[in-house]
Amino acid sequence: MKKILVLNGPNLNLVGIREPGVYGKQSIDVINAGLREYAKELEVEIDIRQSNHEGMLIDWLHEAREEFDGVVLNAGAYTHYSYAIRDAIAAISKPIIEVHLSNVHARDEFRHKSVISPVCIGVICGFGKNSYSLALKALADLLK
Ligand code: DQA
Repeated sequence: MKKILVLNGPNLNLVGIREPGVYGKQSIDVINAGLREYAKELEVEIDIRQSNHEGMLIDWLHEAREEFDGVVLNAGAYTHYSYAIRDAIAAISKPIIEVHLSNVHARDEFRHKSVISPVCIGVICGFGKNSYSLALKALADLLK
């Protein structure tokens, strides 16, 4: 069975509480539970993690090099400026899908730029929790 790592970056532990008008009212735990069910349907194994720390996310990306077949990544605000995360993605040569709950292009100008998009295989944003399931499906298909 293919193994997919789902990584959430800073402040995503507060989804459900944080700006519900932007990120929705469902908690990250509820979103994760739905994603685990969907993974069973897709017959892929998933491991979901969250950290508010850039270095932790980088360590997990390095771990993915040997332990996982692909990654679904919501890097939160790091998306817009972390060259270190971008380099980690480029270093591991595994398929990574960038996801965002919100449509970052319809928001503040600083969110229009992603420094990680060029090293990801694709980007899904603006579909709320479905951004994760769409990415999981795309990655599962790609890994078949
Ligand atoms: C986000 C969008 C980012 O701009 C923001 O900093 C986040 C969440 C999203 O999922 O919509 O923390 O990645």
